[in-house]
Amino acid sequence: MSDKILILDFGSQYTQLIARRVRELNVYSEIVPFNKIPQLDDSYKGIILSGSPFSVTDDRALHVDLEKIVGHLPLLGVCYGAQYIAHSLGGKVQASNKREYGKALLSRQYQDDPLLHDIPESSQVWMSHGDTIMEIPGNFELLAGTESVDVAAFRAKSDAYPHPVYCIQFHPEVTHSLHGKTLLKNFVLDICGCSGDWTPAAFVEQTVAELRETIGEEHVLMGLSGGVDSTVAAMLLHQAIGGNLVCFFVDNGLLRKNEFADVLHSYKDLGLNIVGVDAQKQFYDALAGLTDPELKRKAIGRTFIEVFEEEAHLLEAKDKDIKWLGQGTIYPDVIESVSVHGPSVTIKSHHNVGGLPEKLKLKIIEPLRMLFKDEVRKVGKELNIPQNILSRHPFPGPGLGIRILGDITPDKVKLLQEADAIYIDNLKHFGLYDEVWQAGTILLPIQSVGVMGDERTYEQAVALRAVNSLDGMTAEWSPLPYDFLAKVSSEIINNVKGINRVVYDISTKPPSTIEWE
Ligand code: XMP
Repeated sequence: MSDKILILDFGSQYTQLIARRVRELNVYSEIVPFNKIPQLDDSYKGIILSGSPFSVTDDRALHVDLEKIVGHLPLLGVCYGAQYIAHSLGGKVQASNKREYGKALLSRQYQDDPLLHDIPESSQVWMSHGDTIMEIPGNFELLAGTESVDVAAFRAKSDAYPHPVYCIQFHPEVTHSLHGKTLLKNFVLDICGCSGDWTPAAFVEQTVAELRETIGEEHVLMGLSGGVDSTVAAMLLHQAIGGNLVCFFVDNGLLRKNEFADVLHSYKDLGLNIVGVDAQKQFYDALAGLTDPELKRKAIGRTFIEVFEEEAHLLEAKDKDIKWLGQGTIYPDVIESVSVHGPSVTIKSHHNVGGLPEKLKLKIIEPLRMLFKDEVRKVGKELNIPQNILSRHPFPGPGLGIRILGDITPDKVKLLQEADAIYIDNLKHFGLYDEVWQAGTILLPIQSVGVMGDERTYEQAVALRAVNSLDGMTAEWSPLPYDFLAKVSSEIINNVKGINRVVYDISTKPPSTIEWE
């Protein structure tokens, strides 16, 4: 079992970033709400307390049982974590209504501390705090301050506890803390003694062995979408149980141009036991006449479950002992987030096939549930999945169904597929595909007047959308070059009969969303 760092989350916007920075050191890290400390078995090597939007001096302060952690394992309190330790162990924290936000210069006062090893005398750090630590507890000593706060880093005296306790007011996980990575490396590798052997290859080896052990001789069913997550999850299962993994790839009539044939072909090349299911008509029938986005989403989700059930029953008839449903769920979907509106816990979930496992009485297996998206791609590379699959843009489960505004007909799907293929091919041709996080074309439910040769036209309009984002939660519109947009626009209008106008969407999320429906 790999070494682990436990991250107790107090609701900071940077908690996930701490986890990623630790993982970049090839050490597995796990985020858990502040009030759900797990049993600390031997695999845990250290604990980090995150920041928080709350104040330790406030009624709404989030409380953690320090007795359970201080001295049990090496501990690092970041921002709120540091203030909480100071406040609880006899120091003094002062509430302030002025936030210190931005860059500051950290100056070291103590030369040979292991946490600050290899960090210059004076180094830039990122601050984001309201409260100020005025006094550190009696059994602690000061390590560093900045020009505006005396207490920026401190530690428990060496004889105070069986394991080191460190506290820092700044955020080492943010890139503006120029030596933050060094500090985290010092803590995780040197102070906690983690071995740093959690590599993509190690993950594959360990996961495949675990999957084999858990699943045994039973069969797993999995619906693939052509996206990165489900493909990587399927390949891990394939390595573990080979032909006992049965995959479906459903043509719902809402995929991109040629997507069904191309993706099915790649899956077969990868050696997957895959069944292509043409269910276009079933989806179009279910969508006929629907215009409300949520009703369309529901109809697509429902039809997907119906198709899946039919196929699963066909397999059952062939005497396959199917007990599991494989899913490509990833870490951001399973982290329990600490709500900033109070200590309640909410779980974010984004499934298009909710209800399926219960209906089919299947157990769920999710080989990627502990990985971030970029880690999924690294694992995919390790599994030799081709780059064109790993670098694919995210594509929504309901597909073009939520990019055709209003009701859906096969003709509208064809029109949009043609325009979208021109856009995406050009993005690739101009070397821009990998520069944007997601791109797509939207068929608008309006017609406008144009002129083609000597003729007046009255045809439809499409909007092009491209965004830069990290995780889809927020997004900026991508500043695509004018010559590129000009080429795509004229190519669409000249080649796709039925479209005479192209616009570019320059809305950010929030307040807009990435998809139009
Ligand atoms: P929005 O439109 O909410 O999209 O800004 C954020 C990300 O989620 C994708 N998306 C979906 N994915 N089922 C999915 O699997 C859906 O119903 C759905 N709606 C939006 C969207 O493409 C973007 O990546």
